Amino acid sequence: MDLHILIATQEKPRRDLCFEVAKRLGLAVSLAESALRAFDILDAGRVDVVLADARMPGLGMLDLLKSARENSPETDVIVMANSTEAELAQQVVKGGACECIIRPFEADDLQRLLGRVIQKKQMSTENRLLREQLETHRGLGTLIGSSAKMQKVYEMILKVAAKRHPVLVLGESGTGKELVARAIHSYGPWRDLPFVPVDCGALSATLIESELFGHVRGAFTGANRDRSGLLVAGGKGTVFLDEIAELPVELQSKLLRAIQEREVRPVGSNRRMPLEARIIAGTNQHLEGAITRGTFRKDLFFRLNVVSVKLPPLRDRKTDIPALVHHFIDRYSGTSGGAKDISYEAMSRLMSYDWPGNVRELENCIQRALALGSSPEIQMSDLPSNLLYAMQAGSGDRRISTLRELERDAIRQALEMTAGDRLRAARLLGIGKTTVYRKIKEYGLEDIVNSSHLS
Ligand SMILES: Nc1ncnc2c1ncn2[C@@H]1O[C@H](COP(=O)(O)OP(=O)(O)OP(=O)(O)O)[C@@H](O)[C@H]1O
Ligand SMILES: [Mg+2]
Repeated sequence: MDLHILIATQEKPRRDLCFEVAKRLGLAVSLAESALRAFDILDAGRVDVVLADARMPGLGMLDLLKSARENSPETDVIVMANSTEAELAQQVVKGGACECIIRPFEADDLQRLLGRVIQKKQMSTENRLLREQLETHRGLGTLIGSSAKMQKVYEMILKVAAKRHPVLVLGESGTGKELVARAIHSYGPWRDLPFVPVDCGALSATLIESELFGHVRGAFTGANRDRSGLLVAGGKGTVFLDEIAELPVELQSKLLRAIQEREVRPVGSNRRMPLEARIIAGTNQHLEGAITRGTFRKDLFFRLNVVSVKLPPLRDRKTDIPALVHHFIDRYSGTSGGAKDISYEAMSRLMSYDWPGNVRELENCIQRALALGSSPEIQMSDLPSNLLYAMQAGSGDRRISTLRELERDAIRQALEMTAGDRLRAARLLGIGKTTVYRKIKEYGLEDIVNSSHLS
């Protein structure tokens, strides 16, 4: 997101100097040589920073400040004052303007001040974005989950989104590495440029080389025309190198060279093409281990690991499960009259499972339950058997629940949920009323029925 600065001064040399500095800092600039023009610009659209002379004909500092704040309360104002205006300027600064810089000043002075203002602004924008996202959604963009662990991930995404250095996305299979790479791309200023995912594990060594780097006609059998590689195809967009640990070692050095020299040499060619893309790499492997085994190059690891985003496995953020479940129900239940909700017991079961396949496994589980189930709520019986009889990850020795234990738990939960209403509990459990009566007795659950009735 480009920040927009309005530079308002009558003095041409000062305007030029300010323009130069603002451009250097990557800001979008509007110039005003008169007060009238400055007001027009403020009226016309969002301005993030106003850099203006303390006095311009027809313009008091207070008017400008007021106008800027009306434009947006978040607009920062920097006043350029000479020594005689300084005292007034200081008062205005105290009264709410952001900063004051005394004229004459050097480009470097302005750059330092402006840099600080922008940095503060970017940080508060990041925070605001994050807050808004978390308030209005259950996560960040397409990423669902508001656990503390995911919030750390979101902070990192927003922090790196506007930068161009490589990012390494780590996490077990199914934790959402590709979604994170897409989020980094879509929260950055280059979101309108291509996002190019490449699965480094899916192709043979020769094919992946020509996929990544491109080739010229005749480079190998079947190469009957020039083809540019995926590394350059997306221009200044993002290339996501998924399963990077699967990349053959020879290609790892070629990739490292390309990233370092920012140039790509297509197979069979001497010509080099500029590599402008931002590189994000992903893996579910433990790269340090791969380095020790000699299957991954240490220097490439250091190059890619400038910043890493580590995704927590789902079992470490179980509080996100309900939001994910509802997200997938919304996405897959469609208009076909499928389930729109999930029973309490089924949800409890999902929460107690360890999800070795992480979010992908949960997604598949919900899809399957929606396809198979016939009631308005997903029931225990719609869940896959591995989940129903899963190993309970005890703290130490692992044991499996007996069917009787599971049944007793399910009936108890159903009774608790329905405040002891046996008829509704039977319906939730998908069994007959008389069976529920019998089982309540068998498992000694009368207490729940009685105490709930009394209360
Ligand atoms: N936080 C999340 N919110 C919503 N959906 C998610 C989330 N994390 C993952 N998913 C979904 O789970 C599935 C797997 O995600 P993704 O492909 O990004 O995982 P991955 O880490 O790249 O897995 P692999 O290593 O197996 O390629 C996708 O369908 C994705 O949409
Ligand atoms: Mg993936």
